[in-house]
Amino acid sequence: MELSNELKNKIINVTSNAAIACHPYVGKNDKILADKAATDEMRKNLNKLDIDGKVVIGEGELDEAPMLYIGENLGSGNGPSLDIAVDPLEGTNFVAKNLPGALSVMAISLRGNLFNAPETYMNKLSVGKDVPYDATDLDFTIEKNLMNIADAKNKDLSDITVCLLDRPRHKEIIDKLKSLKVNLKLLSDGDVTGALLVTDKKYDVDIFLGIGGGPEGVLAASALDSFNCKFQGRFLFKTDKDISRAKKMGIKDLNKKYDLKEIVRGDSIFCATGITSSELVKGIKLENGKYITETLVTHKNSTINIVKKEVPIT
Ligand code: FBP
Repeated sequence: MELSNELKNKIINVTSNAAIACHPYVGKNDKILADKAATDEMRKNLNKLDIDGKVVIGEGELDEAPMLYIGENLGSGNGPSLDIAVDPLEGTNFVAKNLPGALSVMAISLRGNLFNAPETYMNKLSVGKDVPYDATDLDFTIEKNLMNIADAKNKDLSDITVCLLDRPRHKEIIDKLKSLKVNLKLLSDGDVTGALLVTDKKYDVDIFLGIGGGPEGVLAASALDSFNCKFQGRFLFKTDKDISRAKKMGIKDLNKKYDLKEIVRGDSIFCATGITSSELVKGIKLENGKYITETLVTHKNSTINIVKKEVPIT
């Protein structure tokens, strides 16, 4: 069964409206309020839809963030049974500090087709479709991955660009990459975007890797599936709380490496609306009494495009 275009248009409205709700908080140096504005709006609009939705990737668990929490039911209850992954504001710092890269993001699939993941870190890798699938792997050394990519693309290592979050936990990897003389693209935040920069040559990123949020990994995987790109992820369960949550969610092998097809199955729709501009989409603009929004929309069984919307300012 496929997800309809009508549903896709509704999801575009949901992320557009969440992005607009967040817009007043751009540059206000308050990431909590910005996140709340986007989350409240997303939840309100999802609850208006004729869907039987369930949050599988959300803003934490019921006991710590009672908004779009994992397991929350959304929609009227009539209509298709859907799994929903949300990140109403991806890049809270970007909005707070008025920096490029903030998005409002959502993905949906039919019930049971999106991975039900706890909020922990994930070690990730994404690579474009121009590299053979088996040429890269989370369990290969960095050197082996990069040599294989260079071979597949007929490039020198010094022409390869690696994208990852700029974090102290990546020091060893960054040192290794420097010694290999590859180009780095170090993100201050926003690894949904980072993972998607392998989808098109225009971004000039050959591989995205490193540790970031697990929910962001699942969201990126849904878009990467439509682009026919590679994604692998391995959750990192550190605390006893993480481990007991993972077990409750049915994860038996805590060290399992997940391939894209185990994270998202069948048809899926991913929408990312720009709040502030990034390489993927432009941020919200105000023109002639209207908000102009741009959304990257990927629909596995249909199309990938950037959708512009005009929403009157009320
Ligand atoms: P928020 O929007 O929740 O602030 O997340 C931003 C982000 O950079 C994600 O894109 C990334 O997955 C995660 O934070 C990385 O976490 P950390 O900042 O703890 O390294």
